[in-house]
Amino acid sequence: MVKKLANTDEMKKFINIVSGMTNDKGNPRVKKIVHRVVTDLFNTIEDLDVTPDEFWAAVDYFNDLGQVMEAGLLTPGLGLEHFIDLRLDAKDEAAGVTQGTPRTIEGPLYVANAPLVKGTARLDDGTDTGDVLFMSGVVRDLGGKPVAGAIVDVWHANTKGLYSFFDKTQSKYNLRRRIEADANGRYEFRTIVPAGYGCPPDGPTQRLLNALGRHGQRPAHIHFFVSAPGYRHLTTQINIAGDKFLYDDFAFATREGLIPEIVHQSDANKIKEKGLNTPFDEIEFDFALTPASTAALDDTVHRRRVEAA
Ligand SMILES: [Fe+2]
Repeated sequence: MVKKLANTDEMKKFINIVSGMTNDKGNPRVKKIVHRVVTDLFNTIEDLDVTPDEFWAAVDYFNDLGQVMEAGLLTPGLGLEHFIDLRLDAKDEAAGVTQGTPRTIEGPLYVANAPLVKGTARLDDGTDTGDVLFMSGVVRDLGGKPVAGAIVDVWHANTKGLYSFFDKTQSKYNLRRRIEADANGRYEFRTIVPAGYGCPPDGPTQRLLNALGRHGQRPAHIHFFVSAPGYRHLTTQINIAGDKFLYDDFAFATREGLIPEIVHQSDANKIKEKGLNTPFDEIEFDFALTPASTAALDDTVHRRRVEAA
């Protein structure tokens, strides 16, 4: 029988030293979190009898993850980003805050400072031959009143499931725009229907998912930040209805209320009206923003993000 170590007085003293509890410098909050995490890891190693080989494989794994910048991909894959959303929902509920459009995960592929366009935008640069999609709607407050001038910051993948900036073959800010809603809170954009996508097949995130017997696929979706002075910053996505991974998203982002109907228009007059010669798709979706008086729960604005030079 191997002697249990993790919860002995000696080991508790050791973890106190490790996490800086025995000095008066540093950051108390960081110390508290590190103390808890190290304690939990020691217990995990002991309870599950983690071997040195397994332990060093995990260390190598973190190095691999950092080298290819996939920490932000593993995070939703392990449900942590969705868990953060559920915690914020629970806090809203406890505070009696009525939510507008449901929040859901941001993911790692946002790029700041996309071109700002008033009212109506075209997101695609015309090189992707995917189905044309018109999406429009109104940004409203919780009482249904339009929010004039709200900023709808939208980004999505192309038909190969790739995002501009990260996919260097696409033009700068392709499929990314910030749209300023008009005086009636209305926004509108033309783009192409995105495809779903998966984790890089040879990357560390997919490697772990394989070990869990899980796929790394996401259903087709469109990301949004919606913001306006006096309202809480909303981070959300809408899903393209009918996708085979709609309720089997490796990142757990699909939520009720975020799956608008996609209408296929093949009427000749409507096609002509849009200046097209092929059928197209349409989505109508209104956003509802929560007042900023509850902005203590704003979850998304302090995150480090890339900016295209
Ligand atoms: Fe995405």
